[in-house]
Amino acid sequence: MKKLWKNCHIATMQNGQYSSIEHAAMVTSGQHIHWIGTFEDLPADAYSETIDLNGAWVTPGLIDCHTHSVFGGNRSVEFEKRLQGVSYAEIAASGGGIASTVRATREASEQELLASALKRVRCLLKDGVTTIEIKSGYGLDYANERKMLRVIRQIADTLPMTVRSTCLAAHALPPEYKDQSDAYIEHICNEMLPKLHQEGLVDAVDAFCEYLAFSPAQVERLFKTAQSLNLPIKLHAEQLSALGGSSLAARYQALSADHLEFMTEDDVKAMAAAGTVAVLLPGAFYFLRETKYPPLQSLQQHGVRIALSSDLNPGTSPALSLRLMMNMGSTLFRLTPEQTLAGVTTHAAHALGLQETHGTLETGKVADFIAWEIEHPSEIVYWLGGDLPKRIIQHGNEISI
Ligand code: NIG
Ligand code: FE
Repeated sequence: MKKLWKNCHIATMQNGQYSSIEHAAMVTSGQHIHWIGTFEDLPADAYSETIDLNGAWVTPGLIDCHTHSVFGGNRSVEFEKRLQGVSYAEIAASGGGIASTVRATREASEQELLASALKRVRCLLKDGVTTIEIKSGYGLDYANERKMLRVIRQIADTLPMTVRSTCLAAHALPPEYKDQSDAYIEHICNEMLPKLHQEGLVDAVDAFCEYLAFSPAQVERLFKTAQSLNLPIKLHAEQLSALGGSSLAARYQALSADHLEFMTEDDVKAMAAAGTVAVLLPGAFYFLRETKYPPLQSLQQHGVRIALSSDLNPGTSPALSLRLMMNMGSTLFRLTPEQTLAGVTTHAAHALGLQETHGTLETGKVADFIAWEIEHPSEIVYWLGGDLPKRIIQHGNEISI
């Protein structure tokens, strides 16, 4: 059953560039791309369906490779406090911040968490996101991390999206382990992670390497366990201070190190050598009114892949539009629209280890694509929010949302 998608232009995003094909056509067979090229070169064949895309620009489905979409409550009151001058670190030290979302998440039932997360993830889907990574990390004990990870699996069962789950049990210290962070890390390594992995709930492991969370030595302990379980690694690193977490992540062949405002030249070199993707999170940078920029030029000079993501979370980035993050990537970080589009397609696919199947439009890859009613791909980055007219195709089927 082959479908012909015609009358379009295609930004394939191969090699991290638009790699445009104008006056293009695409043939899908089941869930995959069977053929892609100019309409002129379309081979004669029989199609079960022909879809006219009316001159749209087609891009790969967007990939949001770093989110905390599942959580109880929200932190709008904390936002007000921060605007009055209280810092993120001060709020965390006084029992607010991540700890307050942990309390709300523990209190919420699986059904409640699913319902609230679906509302948020649907916003991203409507914005053109067909693949999303979602982290746990607001449960911080076996039962509640499991509850979050089960909700992530249910999101995958409910929405027409590819969903990757990441265990972020090492996000913050739970109250039960006050002043015993080493013991909590041991508990994750010896009990929680092996069990959650055995239940098929974990696709990758992440941690928050920061002075107000876990040290590089503690993160390394976790990485060793992840490695022994054959689980890919990611890391929140260098968001608020320079601890060398990104170099550590590179040493362990991490898929990505994320945030990175405080990273050093040595960290950049280590990531370049390891092929670890730099995931930049302009929403958190903006929302925390950060002034220290990630070293964009150095990352580019050393050829590190740069992905962009929403970091959707209640504390530092309540972002419901990946396109808005792309705009921020260009305005705040000076990435070109082409680089930001590569950051949410091909580079984001690498950040999830999905580069063989996702992130670019080419023969054999999954047929996830967006047909945008625009004149040029830069428009995807140009408009600030809103509902940009588009058709969303996931696994070869147009979806209505
Ligand atoms: O990616 N940096 C740590 N984790 C989240 C924030 C989580 C929160 O404040 O709830 C982040 O910014
Ligand atoms: Fe995050």
